[in-house]
Amino acid sequence: MPFQHDAAQSIKQKGPTLDKKIRVFAPATVANVACGFDIMGFAIEHPGDEVEMTLTERKGVVISKIIGDEGKLPLDADKNTVGIVVKYLLEKVRSKYGVKITLYKQMPLGSGLGSSAASAVASLCAANELLARYEPEKALRREELLPFAMEGERLACGSAHADNVAPALMGGFVLIRSYDPLDVVRIPTPEALRATVIHPHVEVQTRDARSILRKQISLKDAIVQWGNTAGLVAGLWQCDFDLIGRSMQDVIIEPIRSILIPGFDAVKANAMYAGALGCGISGSGPSVFALSRNQEIAEEVGRKMQNAFGALNIDSEVYVSPINRQGPRIIE
Ligand code: HSE
Repeated sequence: MPFQHDAAQSIKQKGPTLDKKIRVFAPATVANVACGFDIMGFAIEHPGDEVEMTLTERKGVVISKIIGDEGKLPLDADKNTVGIVVKYLLEKVRSKYGVKITLYKQMPLGSGLGSSAASAVASLCAANELLARYEPEKALRREELLPFAMEGERLACGSAHADNVAPALMGGFVLIRSYDPLDVVRIPTPEALRATVIHPHVEVQTRDARSILRKQISLKDAIVQWGNTAGLVAGLWQCDFDLIGRSMQDVIIEPIRSILIPGFDAVKANAMYAGALGCGISGSGPSVFALSRNQEIAEEVGRKMQNAFGALNIDSEVYVSPINRQGPRIIE
């Protein structure tokens, strides 16, 4: 079912018997996309997280159950991204309702796949849709949910970066042109473009992966990086696969963070050998992603990347996906 933004339309479609319960899926995302640290990301079709939410007469946010997190996430709504973002939203719009949440965690934590972002976005979209049904004048447009989702990231890792939550919320390939003021641009992508994302069974916390970064960079590196960032945007816009590939180089973050990912150089070399356009760390890692010009190459890239991790006895999952243009969706 497509996601409803328009409150009035949502009410009309649902008729007089409005459901107080909703289940929403939000997708995994690849942040940074090699050269665009904190300013670029895209959504993939799967995996993703799901949130089931029920509107309650009693104000406040209750997380009643989390399934699939191996007991790692807190049920306290103030300490969990799914809870805090909705709390901020309901307070901000002065809703007279509260919500009860069940989170279905369907992606690994600390994976570099935007796990906290998917949970927060699913939660916000569920709450906003319930608002659209019961307090339609208080429902927000989808992009207006972004600042709330960013607060979820602040809670999760100490930094309110938007390069996972923006694509999870809006779908597609997203550029954060500016944080202050927030200015987010959706970038068209070639239809055939495929992402391969491999998640090795190693955990890297975003907070740690950010803390090891240098705070200053050289002008020489900055020139290389912004050339690549602009080149990537131009390549996507023009459907120029070679330009996309040439631009997927990160001279600032990858040399530092790749030390947290055992076998990174071999995985990347295998991906490139198999025909990937480019390859880099997905978000803060340990997942590694590659972009390819079609499905067949993307699958071969996945096999070759998995071989490289396998040679080090590291288990992994591979996801091959088109760019997810839809973003979150209501599934029940
Ligand atoms: N841009 C963020 C980082 C993404 O690299 O730290 C985290 O998924």
